[in-house]
Amino acid sequence: MRVLGIETSCDETAASVVALDSAAAPEILSNIVLSQIEEHAAFGGVVPEIAARAHVEALDGIVEAALTDSAVSLDEIDAIAATAGPGLVGGLIVGLMTAKAIAAAANKPLIAINHLEGHALTARLTDGLDFPYLLLLVSGGHTQIVAVRGVGDYQRWATTIDDALGEAFDKTAKMLGLPYPGGPNVEKAAATGDASRFAFPRPMKGSAQPDFSFSGLKTAVRQAATAIAPLSDQDVADICASFQAAVADALGDRAARALARFRKEFPDKTGPALVVAGGVAANRTIKGTLEALCSEAGFAFVAPPQKLCTDNAAMIAWAGIERLRAGLAGENAVDFVPRSRWPLDSISTPLVGSGRRGAKA
Ligand code: KG4
Ligand code: ZN
Repeated sequence: MRVLGIETSCDETAASVVALDSAAAPEILSNIVLSQIEEHAAFGGVVPEIAARAHVEALDGIVEAALTDSAVSLDEIDAIAATAGPGLVGGLIVGLMTAKAIAAAANKPLIAINHLEGHALTARLTDGLDFPYLLLLVSGGHTQIVAVRGVGDYQRWATTIDDALGEAFDKTAKMLGLPYPGGPNVEKAAATGDASRFAFPRPMKGSAQPDFSFSGLKTAVRQAATAIAPLSDQDVADICASFQAAVADALGDRAARALARFRKEFPDKTGPALVVAGGVAANRTIKGTLEALCSEAGFAFVAPPQKLCTDNAAMIAWAGIERLRAGLAGENAVDFVPRSRWPLDSISTPLVGSGRRGAKA
């Protein structure tokens, strides 16, 4: 099976060809990702209109490069899989329309993929994980813990009631005058900071409600920064280190709850695993905390290569293969309308204030 994947839900224009030959492990034949970070940096965040236009300009070339790199011709492709939501609707339209056009011209089936499903199934592409497992998705638009029970069978166990974690990193960076994207710059500054200088709150820690919250922490950072302004480089480093420690601590507490629930719900599962995905999963302090937690709880800690944790089209092509293989590819998606909101788990009710429209997934 060979599937061409297309991803345009936020600020990466991406295309990839993934192959699965019955007995062998899946293979990523090409994986092209064009980041738009430079186009958005001056604005301190992703500008939807700029993103959509940049996708229009780049996508044809990116698809062509993905096919060339894979040495697979369009004729040899079994299906096209494209992200159809959630995300910024302009980008989704560009990707899905392009996919529809390719599918129609080449007479291939089109599969509409939920971007979050791409993240959820990546660990099966990279590590061959068996169901069920736990996924912690921490990106610019989402902060969720999901029980991945099968293809198309996801149960959200926790989500943020306000900001996404990546957003909290980005806003903290902005407040402190660090460049966009904030996460890597906060981590860099934190390396020379004193994590014990500021006692920031650990939102939701110990709470019976399993969810996340970061807006109170953001406010505490702003108050601390205002109180000691103007900030020296050391002040910025200390705030970043203290913020990162608070985040890791809060995240660890929420994850520990989820691991315990997993044990209870899947008592027979041997070799349980926690998978991380999303840009924030690059953070070493956070990774270290989760790794320690997993080893204590007897869980494998699976962190796919960062290139496959952040937005890419290999995960979309792979989700297409998973759906084809499971007989869940659905009707040919030629009439599919992009969805800026598209929860992975349609049963868990959305929480008030969560999931901004068109948020980065
Ligand atoms: O998954 P991603 O590339 O895009 C989506 O949101 O879909 O995640 C981007 C987010 C941004 O908020 C960025 O600041 C954050 O991931 N991030 C980090 C780090 N690297 C990226 N946050 C904390 N520490 C990092 N090293
Ligand atoms: Zn994503």
